[in-house]
Amino acid sequence: MTEKRVAIVTGASRGIGEAIAKHLAKAGVHVVAVARSADKLAGVVEAIAAAGGSAEFATVDIADGKALAGLIESIADKHGRLDVLVNNAGITRDGLFLRMEDADFDDVINTNLKSAFVAMRAGARSIMRSKTGRIINIGSVSGVTGNAGQANYSASKAGLIGLTKTVAKELAGKGVTVNLVAPGFISTDMTDVLPPQVKEKVLPLIPLKRMGNPDEIAAVVAFLASEGASYITGQVVVVDGGMVM
Ligand code: NAI
Repeated sequence: MTEKRVAIVTGASRGIGEAIAKHLAKAGVHVVAVARSADKLAGVVEAIAAAGGSAEFATVDIADGKALAGLIESIADKHGRLDVLVNNAGITRDGLFLRMEDADFDDVINTNLKSAFVAMRAGARSIMRSKTGRIINIGSVSGVTGNAGQANYSASKAGLIGLTKTVAKELAGKGVTVNLVAPGFISTDMTDVLPPQVKEKVLPLIPLKRMGNPDEIAAVVAFLASEGASYITGQVVVVDGGMVM
């Protein structure tokens, strides 16, 4: 059995997931960084090792439920434990709902919402055996308030809140905590592609007057994953610079 606590972080090849992987490794957790592309993941694992942490990577398309469940089970088997699961990977397919194609709705729900259900179900038995079992789902303020142009994304992230609160209740008896972190407007590849006029519209709504950075999300996730966060469960933690949407 691996001595360190073991965490799986999906979408860890870049952005918020990469920052979460690094923060958890810094906190002494062995991190399994998951995404689709091996190249970028290898770089993240190398950086963690160079900083004195412990990590490995695995590739999967989280929209393929069977493959995702198989991967989670094999990681837990390999290490003889699973302590932390961070469902971070997510996509956007923005557009006004009147013109939204079924495929754009289904892809976003499948990738952002169903994958978290599949991963939690596959990992639950192992996480329940951990004395410090933690699940953290990455939602969005769009799932709390709704956001024009993001019917599919907002629905997926709102669904993730209901899923988080329910699984929190179902696993509480085993001491596992389940929480959701809802980031606001964070500077990553996902937001880099937004047109300047979108950013100009959003910035005045943020009292802290700037976009957040991935480390500011990862620090909160690392706290929720820590042993010190043992009495917090079923919560939505909004990290958005005070944004008024
Ligand atoms: P990003 O686009 O920079 O990174 C997404 C990560 O997920 C990448 O590692 C990508 O490879 C992985 N991924 C996407 N689809 C996948 C699939 N089918 N299978 C496996 N891996 C897949 O995004 P960012 O900004 O780091 O976002 C991370 C999470 O935070 C997402 O769930 C996103 O919805 C959420 N979020 C981001 C905000 C932002 O302003 N950047 C705001 C609110 C929430």
